Amino acid sequence: MTNKHPALEPAMLGPLRLKNRIIKAGTFENMTPNGMPGDTLLRFHTGFAEGGIAMTTIGYCAVSKEGALNANMLVMDEAIRTPLENVISAIHARNCKVSGQMGHCGAFSKNRSLNKRPKGASGGLNILGISEGMWIAETMTLSDIQDMIEQYRKAARFMKSVGFDALEIHFGHGYGLCQFLSPLTNRRKDQYGGSMENRLRLPLEVLAAVREEVGKDFPILGKISMTEGRRGGLDYEDAMQIAIALDQAGIDGIVTSGGTSTMNPMLMFRGPSILPALLRYETNRIMRFLLRLVGRRMFPSMPFSELYFIEQAKRIQKAVKCKIIYIGGACSGQSLQTLLDSGFDFFQLGRSLLADPDFADQLSADRNFVSRCKHCNKCVGTIESPKGIHCPEFYAHIDI
Ligand SMILES: Cc1cc2nc3c(=O)[nH]c(=O)nc-3n(C[C@H](O)[C@H](O)[C@H](O)COP(=O)(O)O)c2cc1C
Repeated sequence: MTNKHPALEPAMLGPLRLKNRIIKAGTFENMTPNGMPGDTLLRFHTGFAEGGIAMTTIGYCAVSKEGALNANMLVMDEAIRTPLENVISAIHARNCKVSGQMGHCGAFSKNRSLNKRPKGASGGLNILGISEGMWIAETMTLSDIQDMIEQYRKAARFMKSVGFDALEIHFGHGYGLCQFLSPLTNRRKDQYGGSMENRLRLPLEVLAAVREEVGKDFPILGKISMTEGRRGGLDYEDAMQIAIALDQAGIDGIVTSGGTSTMNPMLMFRGPSILPALLRYETNRIMRFLLRLVGRRMFPSMPFSELYFIEQAKRIQKAVKCKIIYIGGACSGQSLQTLLDSGFDFFQLGRSLLADPDFADQLSADRNFVSRCKHCNKCVGTIESPKGIHCPEFYAHIDI
């Protein structure tokens, strides 16, 4: 009898065969100065590929310049075709698939290079942009909304053509499409605001456009926030409706995250507050002042427990036909066994893979492998580190 961990068995994710069930979660790398992919990004992702995972995710691929939070994010257009193709083929050469997380920041941006105000479901204060003098976000017009759909369509065409094996549309974490879904950030009075049906309209139109572009034999995943954890915001019941709507619209898989980067990031991570880590790398004086002012309230420590989203993700899984890709605190062979026993076919790992890029190989040697990740959340602050994201506990010394 083989003692191989079942998480290392192959499985189909929609039309895509993955050699095992372990997928690297999208974690914005901050390794693309001026939005240009190169060796650093290549080494980062080939590291996971060499460690045995089935698929890695290139984090936050902006569908347009307007959709990028800052000027160091990848924008999916011809200007980066060759270097991006190089990164993707290097990952493929190591027998690993590549997904790209499609993002649009909507009203939440600090991309001063745009020289215009960001636009979202509804206008208002753009907290992230304060340090850049971009205080105000505007409300998207109907024509802006059509433009956004076309940006997703064009980005999807480009991403398929450069070799991505799957696309993950970001519907969560407070970004552009989530701003439409959430009653807290969508105060529109037209057909894109109000009822859940209306708030779902744009996300579903985006999904339809991306599907039209990539065809039915290409996997599309969607990352959602199962709750925003704020009064009046999206909650677990809303998430059920969102997941069912995405499923009925033909999505291949849903990544069941939670929280928002804007209002409630600790819900996504749990564990000690990310405030010290953010302060460590933030150099802008205004941002440092703001972090000190509101940071304790905005980033409260929350108890960490392994698989902290499992119960809510299970409810969604029972309600849909598509695959549910579990995310949140999976960090050991035992975690993955519990997920498989609960009926999940795939899992995304973020922090555990930052600490142990060879997680899958380690699991193959020891089915009870436990990641070194302590969920200290120091890695979260490295989003602003000049050397890009890394686990400061184990990789601080390495020039990534
Ligand atoms: C450094 C860092 C950067 C992240 N960037 C993104 C991102 O760009 N997009 C996203 O959807 N989630 C992002 N996340 C959240 C992760 O994808 C994931 O939801 C979270 O870390 C919980 O999973 P884990 O317990 O496996 O780490 C990031 C997380 C970390 C630690």
